Amino acid sequence: MKKLLSLSLLLALFMGCNQKEETKVTPPDPDHKWWKESIIYQIYPRSFKDTDGDGVGDLKGIIEKLDYIKSLGVTAVWLNPIYSSPNDDNGYDVSDYRNIMDDFGTMEDFDLMLKGMHERDIKLVMDVVVNHSSDEHEWFKQSRSSRDNPYRDYYHWWPAEKGKPNYRYSLFDEKGDAWRYDSLTDSYYLHYFSVKQPDLNWENPKVRQEVYDIMKFWAEKGVDGFRLDAFQFAAKDTTFPAFPDGLDKNFTQYYAMQDGLHQYLNEMHTEVFSKYDVMSVAEGAGRNFTEAHELVDADRNELNMAYAFDGVDIPKREGYSLDHFKEVFSKWDSAFAKKGWLSIFLSNHDQARLVSRYGNDSEAFRAPSTKMLNTFILSMRGTPYCYYGDELGMTNIGFDSISQYKDIAAINGYKKVLNQGGDIETYMKDLKFGSRDNGRTPMQWDASENAGFTTGIPWLPVNDNKSSINVASEKENPHSVLNHFKKMTALRTAEKTLVYGAYELVQKEHPQVYAYTRTMEDTKLLVILNFTEEVANFNLPEGTTLGDTMINNYEEVQLAQNSITLLPYQALIYKIEN
Ligand code: GLC
Repeated sequence: MKKLLSLSLLLALFMGCNQKEETKVTPPDPDHKWWKESIIYQIYPRSFKDTDGDGVGDLKGIIEKLDYIKSLGVTAVWLNPIYSSPNDDNGYDVSDYRNIMDDFGTMEDFDLMLKGMHERDIKLVMDVVVNHSSDEHEWFKQSRSSRDNPYRDYYHWWPAEKGKPNYRYSLFDEKGDAWRYDSLTDSYYLHYFSVKQPDLNWENPKVRQEVYDIMKFWAEKGVDGFRLDAFQFAAKDTTFPAFPDGLDKNFTQYYAMQDGLHQYLNEMHTEVFSKYDVMSVAEGAGRNFTEAHELVDADRNELNMAYAFDGVDIPKREGYSLDHFKEVFSKWDSAFAKKGWLSIFLSNHDQARLVSRYGNDSEAFRAPSTKMLNTFILSMRGTPYCYYGDELGMTNIGFDSISQYKDIAAINGYKKVLNQGGDIETYMKDLKFGSRDNGRTPMQWDASENAGFTTGIPWLPVNDNKSSINVASEKENPHSVLNHFKKMTALRTAEKTLVYGAYELVQKEHPQVYAYTRTMEDTKLLVILNFTEEVANFNLPEGTTLGDTMINNYEEVQLAQNSITLLPYQALIYKIEN
């Protein structure tokens, strides 16, 4: 799912929220939790490491790389779905929630992987995809077979004799229509995503119980957390009334956070989260700050944290404004300064590459700008999520032809634009910049033909820049993006001020620099990030005495008495003397 809310709607909501800029530093959160202190590394298993030469990553590959993962200084792994799946949407269409996808290996591999993680003090967060299943799940096969099958109510069906159901938008359908007619029972079924991802009916208590049982199955195995995929869409008005006229792209307000969702989460908390030491995170954080709090405030017994899309919505092909970037992150921080907890991320498997979207992937600036962005993610308040390959500064592959894409969203989106007579040239340009396939190319382990990812033919091509951007060479170079990433994880782990300390924006209006302080008890850190490819002059706030340099992504720093001249994309963290 790309996003729940359009940018303009979000801005309107921000204004409505009337968030004033915080001038006072709020006290740090005293409520220590492992998941607040975690640094989460997201692995897209298809693309991480293949050990059997079929061109698709597998669990044995992850096992082989556990020491590498540990060496990064991360403390938890979030794995995209690894369950049995026909792979219409690369595993986000599950056909058996208690089995491992053939491409990825066996349950024995899973058990060994989990053991290997735990031996290294790495926690595991599993993706739970239960807004929908695959149409090849036994539940759906049964459900579709006859109107009186006991599984009929596991999904949303609309009998054709009632006429065509009111329009519902589908994110991945080539016509954009979320209802699919099924002649077998002369009815339509609902699919907010692809036609092979029918939506489960959460009003049915049996469905809910099935899901809790599945989650308990994995919790019993010892997994440490769950990421709830597209879960804000789970509750639905099952009368399916007509959308009001002119709804346009704001259809999501009728999809996200509908009545019933909080009860479902509450029930899930009672049935699962309260019984195990697991963390819970949902994709999407509601339609405004109030809803975000309703999802995550501890006293509500729902989730530990959610992740909002505003940050990943910022970059556009034409660029983005640093002002807007600062505004988004500062507002979310201030809304959660006293209560609740946030996730911090700039990339994942639904986005193109970090450096190509927010930084500068040219030869000259790729390394400093990636280091700067990783400094940002790892120095903000909230739990950081770091996507595989971003620790190296992997870049967009930038396909030109639709035949190169593998992602259903890209392919069906293309068909939809053609069907609707839209502007295909603009679509292709946007795709080249923003496609999810950009963020899914194989991990670059070394400079060999397939970057050490596979001995076979990789399911998605390896980026040509593997010869210079890869683990083997970056490991040896003390100034590499990889080694900078490790410095940042070490600093965050050692310095809890970066986890819990209050955040305060410094020199809000600076056109090139994003600077902020993180303060807890006697410790104050100043983070200074040049977001541009130009040199930037930064005057130190009055009365600031710089102490130790904790982080510098260059070997030098041009320091005058009260100012710093930052090199392009320079990232600095100082201790401030009191
Ligand atoms: C979420 C996932 C995305 C998937 C969609 C449907 O948004 O992050 O990858 O395509 O849900 O499951």
